[in-house]
Amino acid sequence: MSVSVSEQQLNEWFDSALCIARKAGVVIRDALHKEKSVETKISHADLVTESDRAVEKMVMDFVSSKYPSHKFIGEESAVDGQPCKYTNDPTWIVDPIDGTTNFVHQIPEVSFSLGIAVNKQIVIGIVYVPEHEKMYTAKRGKGAFCNGEKISVNKEDSLKDAVVICEGGNSRDPSVLKTKMRNMEAIISSSHGIRAYGSAAIDMCKVASGCCEAYSEYGIHCWDIAAGQIIVEEAGGVVMDPAGGNLDLMSRRVLCASTESLAKQLSAILTHLDLQRD
Ligand code: IPD
Repeated sequence: MSVSVSEQQLNEWFDSALCIARKAGVVIRDALHKEKSVETKISHADLVTESDRAVEKMVMDFVSSKYPSHKFIGEESAVDGQPCKYTNDPTWIVDPIDGTTNFVHQIPEVSFSLGIAVNKQIVIGIVYVPEHEKMYTAKRGKGAFCNGEKISVNKEDSLKDAVVICEGGNSRDPSVLKTKMRNMEAIISSSHGIRAYGSAAIDMCKVASGCCEAYSEYGIHCWDIAAGQIIVEEAGGVVMDPAGGNLDLMSRRVLCASTESLAKQLSAILTHLDLQRD
């Protein structure tokens, strides 16, 4: 069954999402330069801290008290190996700290990322980078903004003149790493170069604000890219599956670019990886 949402309802959720993002930002900023207790998840490089858990609980408690019928998918609540329950219901998809490795190492590129989906389409996206005081926002059909100023992709069309963001990611599986290294080599030799900000949400906001032209990653999760998807699309960019076709939010892979032509050029040089779905 599909769910319909009025503009007034959307605006109300947006205000709530902004409010909770600001609260998350206070917790993240306070903890960034303090000592942390760090645990690992799927590899020695997949980190989680007490702040990831505290921010996620704060958002979860907020959603369940204010919107009891809404669903919640969060990085730290996802049960290992269990598929995420993604339905047509309004769903808050949250990465409490995207860029946990940066957070642990006190590197300021750390974000709070929140996408709200209805009928499996993201309708609201918020990425907040508290240390840089940057609040990226988008509502479906209403454009993308940073601190209230409209942002847009830069419309670079040629891979050879593009800067492409690609991350090492958290997996240390040798076969995954081998493909990633092969892709990085292919990208470096075909473009102006590569960059990595250490947070998928920030990576996507860089493309949305026109300072890098493309980003692709295998191994991310739905909470890393839900907000970024709508921010890039509303900024005039393209978000798709790296092998072509529509993005599947649960497929653990993404490609976004300033134009469709650039997205296709990048897709054509990548070796594609199939990973266990969210
Ligand atoms: C990670 C970051 C990183 C990306 C990883 C993600 P986390 O999210 O977005 O940039 O390379 O694939 O898992 O673990 O910091 O929330």
